[in-house]
Amino acid sequence: MSEKRFDGRVAVITGAGGGLGFEHARLFASRGAHVVINDIGGSVTGDGSDRGAAQRAADEIIALGGSAVADANSVSTPAGAAELIETALEAFGGVDIVVNNAGILRDKSLLKVKPNDFRAVLDVHLLGTFLVTQAAFGHMRAKGYGRFVNTASPAGLYGNFGQANYSAAKAGIVGLTRTVSIEGAKFGISANAISPAAHTRMTENLLGQLFDGASADVLDAAKVSPVVAWLSHEDTDVTGQVFGTAGGLVTKVFIAETKGIFEANPTIENIAAREAEILDEQGYLVPEDVGASMAPLLEHYASNVGQL
Ligand SMILES: NC(=O)c1ccc[n+]([C@@H]2O[C@H](COP(=O)([O-])OP(=O)(O)OC[C@H]3O[C@@H](n4cnc5c(N)ncnc54)[C@H](O)[C@@H]3O)[C@@H](O)[C@H]2O)c1
Repeated sequence: MSEKRFDGRVAVITGAGGGLGFEHARLFASRGAHVVINDIGGSVTGDGSDRGAAQRAADEIIALGGSAVADANSVSTPAGAAELIETALEAFGGVDIVVNNAGILRDKSLLKVKPNDFRAVLDVHLLGTFLVTQAAFGHMRAKGYGRFVNTASPAGLYGNFGQANYSAAKAGIVGLTRTVSIEGAKFGISANAISPAAHTRMTENLLGQLFDGASADVLDAAKVSPVVAWLSHEDTDVTGQVFGTAGGLVTKVFIAETKGIFEANPTIENIAAREAEILDEQGYLVPEDVGASMAPLLEHYASNVGQL
């Protein structure tokens, strides 16, 4: 197996002062990429900031022989996202790879979550992913090449108690990723999302008890980074997908529709009577896009046209 390298590529990684983002940056740099380490240096809840956090991470990568610059902007403002991409252009002359990874948590059960805490979480994860993606997209389009890897979460795919804000933001990132994949396809731009689990400062209280207390080793963040790098490589054509990844397990997550039912004249009663058929997962369909999701209705329409 020949080594997958990123020589000459420029990778922007948001929230890379520590945790998963730092591991991604370290792997990219070790394979020859120039990395832009973005991090606001705040707490897990997004309070405070430390302009030195990104610089310390960049210094560590440089000390390991890598090529890195630091950027302390917040991804959640248009000016911050634009300056981040400017940093990449000024330091390294372009942007080939963006890993949207910055994130915060403000967990509260539904009746306790305040609008401000809902918005703050959406601002960093969802708006931040959008703003950095938009700022980079035009440069990638002009070059005819780009790779986005966005960070979703099992909470966004499946929901999680106390994470109304976080799960909404992470599910939003899945939809955004699929649209960027569709819009980027003809310009050589791919977009995928990961749904990771890793032992970091964000999760040590949640995951620390798992695996007989060995979660730091089993769920080492460095085990997620090869998936991010695989999706970011020029040899990888995969796009518009979501991958589960934790501790060395790599899976594809997909959205499916059951065969369901067709009623030319739906009523509450005839739908309720066929509930089990609607829920039956046998013979499910995995639509690749909105058009494919409409295909079953078009088929029903064609075979029932006389009744409609
Ligand atoms: N660790 C897990 O198990 C897990 C699971 C699912 C998803 N994730 C996601 O992975 C990503 C990385 O999380 P982590 O576990 O490494 O936690 P982390 O707290 O170590 O990393 C998040 C980083 O984002 C930075 N950040 C926060 N707001 C920012 C902003 N506005 N602009 C720039 N940087 C900002 C923080 O300073 C921090 O360094 C997050 O998006 C998180 O939601 C993590």
